[in-house]
Amino acid sequence: MKANLHIAIDGPAASGKTDTGILLAKELGISFLDTGLMYRAITYYFIKSQIDENNIQCIDKGIFEKINIQVPDSQNVILNNIDISNMIFSDEVNNKVSIYAGIQSVRENLVMKQQLIAENSDIVMVGRDVGTVVLPKANFKFFLDCSLNARAIRRMHQSDKKKFVNEKNKINYRDLLDKNREISPLIPSDDAVIVFNDHINLKETVKLIKDIVLN
Ligand code: C5P
Repeated sequence: MKANLHIAIDGPAASGKTDTGILLAKELGISFLDTGLMYRAITYYFIKSQIDENNIQCIDKGIFEKINIQVPDSQNVILNNIDISNMIFSDEVNNKVSIYAGIQSVRENLVMKQQLIAENSDIVMVGRDVGTVVLPKANFKFFLDCSLNARAIRRMHQSDKKKFVNEKNKINYRDLLDKNREISPLIPSDDAVIVFNDHINLKETVKLIKDIVLN
């Protein structure tokens, strides 16, 4: 039986993981999963269900049975049969997602789902802990990094030129929570190739990664 090709791409917010992963998966003709969409979907569920992040530790694990998240492609997210794709990039979700993502039971549940998705497929999976926790045996691991300034500028272009300082603060806030949490913090896996992409564009980033994968 042929072993599956698993490529993990991790990195901080707005480092280009998603765009790189989508293009790489397309060029290699394999699947793609943005695990951040799943953390955003579960955050949306908790906010809408008024489940406070401070109390969730006490919540019965049965709650996860009520949460059905599907990510059919790189952009769409279905939560309990409702398309929430346009709801999960709101400021409300942005502000809370890294808090819920630091909760052990949330991570266990989503990691299990992500591992199931990868089980029988060739896939590029992007996130914060793919190389370290979700797919520790991935064939290839990359960690995209980029200066905070360059990331804020990229995000500004994406979000109708919101103020630079504001973007920088928002990205930095999530990075700090993601890097400093106890469970599955955002760190490069020991065997990851670090790709610092401040001065290379999307196509160059994908080419660099693809050359490593195919050689
Ligand atoms: O990738 P994106 O910025 O959409 O992810 C949103 C948030 O989800 C991150 O800031 C992080 O808190 C959380 N996340 C995570 N682990 C992942 C993917 C995302 O903790 N594998």
